[in-house]
Amino acid sequence: MRKKVIAGNWKMNKLPNEAMNFISELAPLVKSAENEVVLCVPYTDLFYSLLHVQDTNIKIGAQNMHYEESGAYTGEISGEMLKSIGVEYVIIGHSERRAYFGETDETVNKKLKKALSLGLKPIVCIGESLEQRESGEAKDIVTMQTKLALEGLESDAVEKTIIAYEPIWAIGTGKTATKEDANETIKWIREEIEKIYGKKVSDSVIILYGGSVKSSNAKDLFEMSDIDGGLVGGASLDAQELAKIINYK
Ligand code: PGA
Repeated sequence: MRKKVIAGNWKMNKLPNEAMNFISELAPLVKSAENEVVLCVPYTDLFYSLLHVQDTNIKIGAQNMHYEESGAYTGEISGEMLKSIGVEYVIIGHSERRAYFGETDETVNKKLKKALSLGLKPIVCIGESLEQRESGEAKDIVTMQTKLALEGLESDAVEKTIIAYEPIWAIGTGKTATKEDANETIKWIREEIEKIYGKKVSDSVIILYGGSVKSSNAKDLFEMSDIDGGLVGGASLDAQELAKIINYK
């Protein structure tokens, strides 16, 4: 049985005091959640957030990391740095990083390997553009991104990888993929993993849906056979709304 994971992605939002207030508001609302509850916060909020989630069931993640341990990479943060302060999760290859910051399938693969070697729990994002969806290329795109992201990983590492299927056209647009389309696409991803690693691995990989998830559509999406939860952007900025998503049942 795969565990459901619901992860908020705050993107470049919230100052440390806002992060701490948010956690104080969210914690009592989600304390009986059966799902894994994760908040992926800006770097500057990480330490404050980690202190503030002690004695709660909320886990903290970063939104990016570098694949090198240290060195002349001005402005970058390494996986070791995240690990050293107790960060548990890290988003890798979000479409905004691919679009605006030169992230490629190759850097995603390097970051994924590094994160896994450190025991960080990676959430790897893949997804097609509207143009690719409309021209019937979505399957080729997501299966290729899956294959390239996982290249060179052993089965046990793949089992520890969380994938987030996020169609780019659904991110921040208010347009959500239909639950059937999202489920079908996630099945394609699972089939690709099965081809390379076998059914045991493909059945155990947690795959989330992301793209305009909100409390009004969470239940429909998360109850589909292959959708194991969500990566939530805009709606994760409001504690009440995020709590409703987490307690979607
Ligand atoms: P959204 O963002 O929920 O605001 O569409 C999702 C994401 O970018 O992870």
